[in-house]
Amino acid sequence: MLVLGIETSCDETGVALYDLKAGLLADVLHSQVAMHAHYGGVVPELASRDHVRYLLPLIHRVLHQAGQSLSSLNAIAYTAGPGLAGALLVGSAVAESLATALDIPALGIHHLEGHLLSPLLSDQRPEFPFVALLVSGGHTQFMSVSGLGQYSLLGETVDDAAGEAFDKTAHLLGLSYPGGPALSRLAESGDPTRFSLPRPMMHSPDLNMSFSGLKTAVSLLVQSQPESQRPHIAASFEQAVSDLLCHKAIRALSATQMKHLVVAGGVGANKRLRRELCSLLEPRGIQVSFPPPRLCTDNGAMIAFAGALRLAQGDLTDHQRSFSIHPRWSLEEYARSWGD
Ligand code: KG4
Ligand code: ZN
Repeated sequence: MLVLGIETSCDETGVALYDLKAGLLADVLHSQVAMHAHYGGVVPELASRDHVRYLLPLIHRVLHQAGQSLSSLNAIAYTAGPGLAGALLVGSAVAESLATALDIPALGIHHLEGHLLSPLLSDQRPEFPFVALLVSGGHTQFMSVSGLGQYSLLGETVDDAAGEAFDKTAHLLGLSYPGGPALSRLAESGDPTRFSLPRPMMHSPDLNMSFSGLKTAVSLLVQSQPESQRPHIAASFEQAVSDLLCHKAIRALSATQMKHLVVAGGVGANKRLRRELCSLLEPRGIQVSFPPPRLCTDNGAMIAFAGALRLAQGDLTDHQRSFSIHPRWSLEEYARSWGD
């Protein structure tokens, strides 16, 4: 069973080939970061045009790398949402057209399902059930995952996503977009205890989180401190985000009585967060799994993989051809759509 995966929800064109028996055969990515950096953030129309430019050449490239041809595909999986409408339309139009021409199913995958299943692509594949912490540029959520498509939301950010907080704070520190990796590099030479930043909602009795107050606190520090303090501000910020996420992770695991945490999404590449989650949770008997770092951020492999699992589950023979995309889409609504 060979599945072509297409990811075009935001600013990366990702294409991959996943085979149910042989695993990941090829995985290529074109990042638009350099193009958007000039504007300080993603420009949706430019993102769509760039996906148009790169998607077909990347499909040819994965097929070539894996020594496969279009005729060997059993299905095409693509990100149907959430994301930028124009960018999603490029992936869905190409996937649905190609699937129609080849007379194979096209599967519209939820971007966050891709992220939360991506740790299963690592060598030590976690078993269901687990608590998933999704930390990306657009989402920060705890989900209880009991199996493929069995997701329930435990708590989420009430304002900015953690990745968004990284990006906005990085901007305040004079770093270029996307700020997360750059802030993290700056923080490496800083002292995380130098500044005491707020940990909003850390002790609230629920599993919701808040990150927008942090950037306001950083903004005041940036104005009052000399430039030489920036590595310390970056480290103190990273520490505050990590403390918040670790604290809520412990709460989520104890509320669900689960023994396994799976971390996914771009912020899951953050080294301090990885280190602290492991050092806090492992002594409590909790197993912590991460995707390989290069699969933390957006990629085609996670979409090909989610599609392959959906295909293996089998209910696709009546799959309707449709170009529908879902720029806003809850994971629970998506999970229900497979049951219809
Ligand atoms: O999952 P992702 O690639 O895209 C979305 O679906 O949003 O996540 C991108 C986010 C950006 O906000 C980026 O700054 C952040 O992940 N990010 C990081 C790191 N690498 C990426 N944040 C902190 N530390 C990192 N090493
Ligand atoms: Zn993502």
